[in-house]
Amino acid sequence: MSLNKWYWTGLLLLSLVRTGLGQPDSLNEAKRMQWFHDAKLGIFIHWGIYAVKGIDESWSFFNEYLSHEDYLKQTEGFTASKYDPAEWAHLIKTSGAKYTVITTRHHDGFSLWNSRGSELNAVNSAARRDVLTPYIQAAKQQGLRIGLYYSLPDWSFTDYPNETKNIKRYDANADTQRWQRFLSYYQGQLDELESAYHPDLWWFDGDWEFSAEKWEAAKVRKRLLSANKDVIINSRLAGHGDYATPEQGLPVNKPVDPYWELCMTMNDSWGYQPNDTNYKTSRQIIQIFANVIGHGGNLLLDIGPKADGTIPAEQSQVLLDMGRWTQKHQEAIYGSQAGLPPGYFYGPSTLSADGQTLYLFLPYHPQGQIELRGVKNQINRIRVVGDGTKLDHQVMMKPYWSTHAGLIYIDVPDYVLDPDMTVIAVQLKGKLELE
Ligand code: GLC
Repeated sequence: MSLNKWYWTGLLLLSLVRTGLGQPDSLNEAKRMQWFHDAKLGIFIHWGIYAVKGIDESWSFFNEYLSHEDYLKQTEGFTASKYDPAEWAHLIKTSGAKYTVITTRHHDGFSLWNSRGSELNAVNSAARRDVLTPYIQAAKQQGLRIGLYYSLPDWSFTDYPNETKNIKRYDANADTQRWQRFLSYYQGQLDELESAYHPDLWWFDGDWEFSAEKWEAAKVRKRLLSANKDVIINSRLAGHGDYATPEQGLPVNKPVDPYWELCMTMNDSWGYQPNDTNYKTSRQIIQIFANVIGHGGNLLLDIGPKADGTIPAEQSQVLLDMGRWTQKHQEAIYGSQAGLPPGYFYGPSTLSADGQTLYLFLPYHPQGQIELRGVKNQINRIRVVGDGTKLDHQVMMKPYWSTHAGLIYIDVPDYVLDPDMTVIAVQLKGKLELE
């Protein structure tokens, strides 16, 4: 075999063993995933009738904290009376997010659009209208990529087996005809969503209730990709997705999956819950974000609008704070790749796409100086991102006879510090080379 052939066979094998996340796509996968890899920040929106009482989305009746009937009565309070989709999209854009993912239909089965497949939808709620379309339009106008969250389970649908954790309507393996009705319903809804919105990304959820075969996951993936060959699918299509979706927990070590996204709430709830005041501070969220991108991932940060369509003040404040910080530090964020492995710098870092600039995110007050280890390159210039101040540095512990890279001490005076998180650009001669 020629070298060239070895190379392509190698690449093909690599793409086959890749993530364990499902179908080997084509060698064009990297191209298809590029915008997602570069985007870094997405905003998740959990909006549904659960915001009326401010209770757990869908789970509150599934876990039998209230009856299914009482849960569904919330449709009468879902007014969307102050809903301003253009303002949502503008705020989300301002945060620095490049994409948005909205719950088109959660496990409770309430569809935000005028679904042909289900009467349990926004038109039949107090809102009396489709509330999804205007948001998608506004988000597209802002240049945001569109992600649609869609729950595979629908615990309200009469042909779905599970109603609550204790109430089972039927056995999907025994009554295959009834299950088939459910499959047609859910796949029909996907067709509705695809043809109305042409999303860039599908965000499935709830696949744990049945197997890939039962969901017909392979078929669904094929169908979505044939409708849009560039579409990206999250991992929760029973092993038939493109990227991993760790939830809430910040990975301590760099995940092995080449593409991944941490989905996270600002407080402890996905939907609006006024009693949940356990908010992370903007600074904490920025630090988490830096850790995520330092490991090459994306952050999908959640907001939970109220039933009247307004975004809680604490949440819009976080989006504005994120916006100030992402705007100032954009060169260190978008299009970057994962930074240094542990041990080289005490904090998160990213690397520019060309591999020639290291971005160091300062997790602590630097007390005048930071230390970088094991970088073999000569340094062209060190400066403060979004500020431009040139910083002095010294290389220590590098006698001429040693092969060690030495320690690089960088002076960071207090007056250059960012109120949330300072970022230092280390411009290298050539591509990063580590000891
Ligand atoms: C979980 C929950 C769901 C939530 C989702 C967001 O799967 O079931 O309520 O919407 O996480 O990632």
